[in-house]
Amino acid sequence: MKKIIKNGTIVTAAETYTADMMIENGIITTIAVQLDAPDAEIIDASGCYIFPGGIDPHTHLDMPFGGTTTVDDFESGTKAAAFGGTTTIIDFCLTNKGKSLQSAVDTWHTKSQDKAVIDYSFHLMISEINDDVLTELPVIMEHEGITSFKVFMAYKNSFQADDGTLYKTLQTARREGALVMVHAENGDVIEFLIEQALAARQTDPIYHALTRPPELEGEATGRAISLTGLTDSQLYVVHVTCADAALKIAEGRKQGLRIYGETCPQYLVLDQTDLEKPDFEGAKYVWSPPLREKWNQDVLWDCLWNGSLQTIGSDQCSFDFKGQKELGRGDFSKIPNGGPIIEDRFSILYSEGVAKGRISLNQFVSMVSTTSAKLFGMFPQKGTLSIGSDADIVIFDPTVKRTLSAATHHMKVDYSAFEGMEVTGEPVSVLSRGEFVIRDKTFVGTPGSGQYLHRNRFEAPATTELKTMPETELSGGVI
Ligand code: URP
Ligand code: ZN
Ligand code: ZN
Repeated sequence: MKKIIKNGTIVTAAETYTADMMIENGIITTIAVQLDAPDAEIIDASGCYIFPGGIDPHTHLDMPFGGTTTVDDFESGTKAAAFGGTTTIIDFCLTNKGKSLQSAVDTWHTKSQDKAVIDYSFHLMISEINDDVLTELPVIMEHEGITSFKVFMAYKNSFQADDGTLYKTLQTARREGALVMVHAENGDVIEFLIEQALAARQTDPIYHALTRPPELEGEATGRAISLTGLTDSQLYVVHVTCADAALKIAEGRKQGLRIYGETCPQYLVLDQTDLEKPDFEGAKYVWSPPLREKWNQDVLWDCLWNGSLQTIGSDQCSFDFKGQKELGRGDFSKIPNGGPIIEDRFSILYSEGVAKGRISLNQFVSMVSTTSAKLFGMFPQKGTLSIGSDADIVIFDPTVKRTLSAATHHMKVDYSAFEGMEVTGEPVSVLSRGEFVIRDKTFVGTPGSGQYLHRNRFEAPATTELKTMPETELSGGVI
């Protein structure tokens, strides 16, 4: 059945205007003033913004990590995402050394199909590059539409890859048209600092932050940027937390390199002092990289405002406090890293960003949706409201005031990292390809209705020139 959304204010990354919108067969077919059709269902959006559905480019659902598995899976995680205004996620598919990439992707398909209530895709972790991987990567890109690779520069003895692997991954990505994502921290030095801290009986959650100083995030970020320049490739730095890293990205972009940066709500509103909460509560705030001294938040907001950082990911990676975070009592290095944000990513950015005047409405849409669609090969099917785009739509009431809490959230996890935080604005209804998933704040979706998305290869955005060496430089003529 046709639907017409009437009387709302349509907001994209480029424009804000009042018009009606017709949806047919899951796509947006008409945008005009005063639309009517006798056979259409009318949805009144008076007083609300109409946003493109949020795209969360960074989730870990049903992921084994730190000796346990994230508590939110593709059903509870995507349901919570939908409540929060997100209609597409890209989850990280973990690979295992010595095993085929396809077997890892198959595992992730098994985890997600029949469960997801919104559309989803996968990034592929690269843990080693050898002849088998080099042969299989282009096949996976073609058959699975996976066009982004993830390299961990930290988590020694588990996920960490060496610099040679990162270099070869960047080279391959340049050749094949993929975007390389990095978790940028110096894992070798961190491992040493952790050993030193534990030897000195420094076991509380705060030592998680103190053994992962911002210098080691800045150093790894700079190293990854240098290797990207050397290979003339493209890099997306996930979960940027601090000035040390953000300013390296700004510098790389100034040099004309194709470097992109993501930060997450937790780094914009929480800080290192949260790890000092008594009774082991600090464990709820253990992320890697860690929460930083509060002054870094101003730098992150500035970088979002001026375009040095472009996207907001949730880094959804939820572990219950009871029985999971508690694994690290008496040894901070055993606290599973990560937290629950998939539901609150969109609203926290709206409330802290737009409502507090730090970013514009259009920048908000760009950060929570459009730029991820462009960088990860889904635009304009996703990430905007234009004729022919999927009708992934959020009807958002900007006047509602509410309090975030584990008592009201829809994730399975047993705590909220934002307990008691007041936010302005709320998604009222959310549509995925033209069908309601959330209607008037009630879940009406169906597990398994989310579709797997094949993504296009990375294309340098029009504003970013591909860096080509001038003739003189190639012949050694530049001093
Ligand atoms: O602490 C975090 N960020 N956990 C999830 C895994 C990762 O590093 O992204
Ligand atoms: Zn990470
Ligand atoms: Zn992550």
